[in-house]
Amino acid sequence: MSAIPDTGISADPSAEWWRGGVIYQVYPRSYQDTTGDGIGDLNGITQRLPYIAALGVDAIWISPFFTSPMKDFGYDVSDYRDVDPMFGTLSDFDRLIETAHGLGVRVMIDLVLSHSSDAHPWFEESRRNRTNPRADWYVWADPKPDGTPPNNWLSIFGGTAWQWDVRRTQYYLHNFLVSQPDLNFHNPAVQEALLDVTRFWLDRGVDGFRLDTINFYFADDQLRDNPALPPERRNAQIAPSVNPYNHQEHVYSKNRPENLVFLARFRALLDEYGAAAVGEVGDAQRGMELLGEYTAEGRGVQMCYAFDFLSWDPLTSQRVVEVFAHLNDVAPHGWPCWAFSNHDVTRHRTRWNLDESGARCFATLIHAMRGSVCLYQGEELGLAEAKVAYEDLQDPYGIEFWPEFAGRDGCRTPMVWEASNTNGGFSEAKPWLPVSPDHLNDAVALQERRDDALLHHYRAVVGMRRDMPVLQTGPQIATEATGDLLTFMRVDPKGGGERIFCAFNLGGGDTRVNLPAGGGWAPVTGIGGAEPASEDTDVALGPWGYTILRAA
Ligand code: BGC
Repeated sequence: MSAIPDTGISADPSAEWWRGGVIYQVYPRSYQDTTGDGIGDLNGITQRLPYIAALGVDAIWISPFFTSPMKDFGYDVSDYRDVDPMFGTLSDFDRLIETAHGLGVRVMIDLVLSHSSDAHPWFEESRRNRTNPRADWYVWADPKPDGTPPNNWLSIFGGTAWQWDVRRTQYYLHNFLVSQPDLNFHNPAVQEALLDVTRFWLDRGVDGFRLDTINFYFADDQLRDNPALPPERRNAQIAPSVNPYNHQEHVYSKNRPENLVFLARFRALLDEYGAAAVGEVGDAQRGMELLGEYTAEGRGVQMCYAFDFLSWDPLTSQRVVEVFAHLNDVAPHGWPCWAFSNHDVTRHRTRWNLDESGARCFATLIHAMRGSVCLYQGEELGLAEAKVAYEDLQDPYGIEFWPEFAGRDGCRTPMVWEASNTNGGFSEAKPWLPVSPDHLNDAVALQERRDDALLHHYRAVVGMRRDMPVLQTGPQIATEATGDLLTFMRVDPKGGGERIFCAFNLGGGDTRVNLPAGGGWAPVTGIGGAEPASEDTDVALGPWGYTILRAA
């Protein structure tokens, strides 16, 4: 058996609810509409909090609900300190927090600090001329002598990352849409303003943050060209393969070392309030290294959201082994937060072509691995990607890259509560994106009535993790693949004797797993796992079978 690595876990585990915790992501536009405008709102989330609490999760993460022109559906903020009227009011938010806390659910909100909307008053002032008090709050640059942009940086959403502004006769940087100008983190006043915004929400009682695009905060102060990335090193982890963004190594447009200094300031603020943050690290080459740098030794954020299990590559046993080997190699003290689905990627049920037993197996796996977990609304119902017709598309990313990449609308369609109601019980009005007719068969009300439904399985595996501290914080050792069979052991972080053996058949055939020596393995019950034969030496696993066993 491999040596037990030191994970640097705090002596006071109660202060670290996030470590190994389960977070449920709510995309507010699509959760529950209470005003009859076809768009979900904060009161809708509050109304559904008992459902979320019954999943047993530790926290919710709510995607942005701040004032916004909604060009990127809230990831373009024009007032960091208010709720967009489409979603409700600050008092609605206060009520949401109070209700969540009453149910034992923590609330994390999504701070989009790297860029604002071009409709933010900071940007409106900044673009006015080159001498105003906020002239240096965004990343402005002169053109090259031939009038072209200052360097070769590309926007993830297509084309150059620079937009010409006629008032300043300069370019400004936007890593995403033209309407999402990047803030200049080299300016201390910008950092202060963003820390103030953070404090505003901490004072309102939030328990933490999801930090959007955390590795994009700083751009190179000399604006150097990114080097080309050779084809053999490219991968489509954060952008589809048809996107030329994958042709560069983004060493200058993002991933700058100065970020660690800012994150230490951010962490000091979090610690004042006992709050936690998960940073979204989008980088196809250095994601795991950055995760290690940003989360190690209490210097930066507590967790980083990893993209490794969000890609189209099938999640084979070999792939899980590779990811954990890489994590142990480059970020042994880092703390990952894993997700299989979110509001940016095709739902994993479709990506990996899973039937219900496959979905059940992966649900068990994510709750058994070392790291924290982010579930995405509807994942607990086993929703597949919705088909959205071109004329119904809303996502500018999909419209730009259609038809090779249809964008992110298919994972953002409304939650389905009832099979019989109008629009799945989401809204009385025509929803902003159509409810998928296929999803109606997976509606919450139907699954509640079926004992063997996936929804109950999600509750069971979330509960399993909650009841077993070793699954939350224990090191993961001996991660091995044998054909489709994946096995690993979770062990007591304090060096005690507790051991949990986990085995998954990530394929459609039959297999057997030999149990590690030591014996006395008792299966964790209530999760539908396979049980050892009477002689306690091996377990038969059918297609997508799994077992989780404790050493007696
Ligand atoms: C969010 C996206 C958003 C982008 C720009 C992300 O990674 O998850 O939905 O479009 O940041 O803010």
